[in-house]
Amino acid sequence: MNDIKSNTGLTSPENAYVDPVAVRDNCRYYLSKHLIKALNHLPTLNNPVMLDMGCGSGVPTTILANHFEGKVFAVDTDIRALTLLRRKIARQKFASAITICRKSVFDMDFTPQTFDLIIAEGLLNVIGFENGLKLADQVLKNQGYLIIHDEEGESEAKQEILARYHYQIIQRFTLDEKVWWNDFYSHLNSRIEAGNAPHKQELFQNDLAEIALYREKPALFRSVYYILRKATPH
Ligand SMILES: C[S@@+](CC[C@H](N)C(=O)[O-])C[C@H]1O[C@@H](n2cnc3c(N)ncnc32)[C@H](O)[C@@H]1O
Repeated sequence: MNDIKSNTGLTSPENAYVDPVAVRDNCRYYLSKHLIKALNHLPTLNNPVMLDMGCGSGVPTTILANHFEGKVFAVDTDIRALTLLRRKIARQKFASAITICRKSVFDMDFTPQTFDLIIAEGLLNVIGFENGLKLADQVLKNQGYLIIHDEEGESEAKQEILARYHYQIIQRFTLDEKVWWNDFYSHLNSRIEAGNAPHKQELFQNDLAEIALYREKPALFRSVYYILRKATPH
């Protein structure tokens, strides 16, 4: 695993400060260890074909490319996030390992049963748990692995959905509000506070609102990793 700085698209503290996408990306790497913990529950995968659904600026994508010697397809609609991912790919050894697909996950046209491993971090809480699971299921191989990082809550309903789609829960663990502060929001907050660019409030409006919400209702930010195996063909 490369270190946090070498994995990002940041070139200097000045650039880091004026591009909110790059700032978030940089801070997002502090959460890497939790995906690595999830990946460590999987067996060795030989040259896997992998999919990162809702990849954003590709923090999980680059972790996958570092962790396994295989191919990663990274799907998202966000042009600014994907531009940053493209920059990161160009600066790293990932060029042949990562393919960026700028499209909605609802428009994916991969052949059924293409992937050995799929990850979806922070996507299913946007598009719906069952919607996301159904999309992943269409392109995941039988006996393939799926890692979902989702907001906490509706645990029983989610387990019922997973059972209905024949997914075995290999492991599940929670990131509590303290983890979110220590491994993400404290860094984001310090980075914004340290900068002195004009229009700071405007530039980081969304991030500052998120930090304010965290301070008000930290429990809302708890999240869960599900490490899953597609148990039976259907
Ligand atoms: C919370 S971010 C997580 C990004 C990345 N997975 C990570 O963990 O750093 C959610 C991402 O889902 C993407 N997204 C939301 N709806 C999508 C859709 N229908 N198709 C593709 N991407 C989508 C957003 O653009 C955003 O980048």
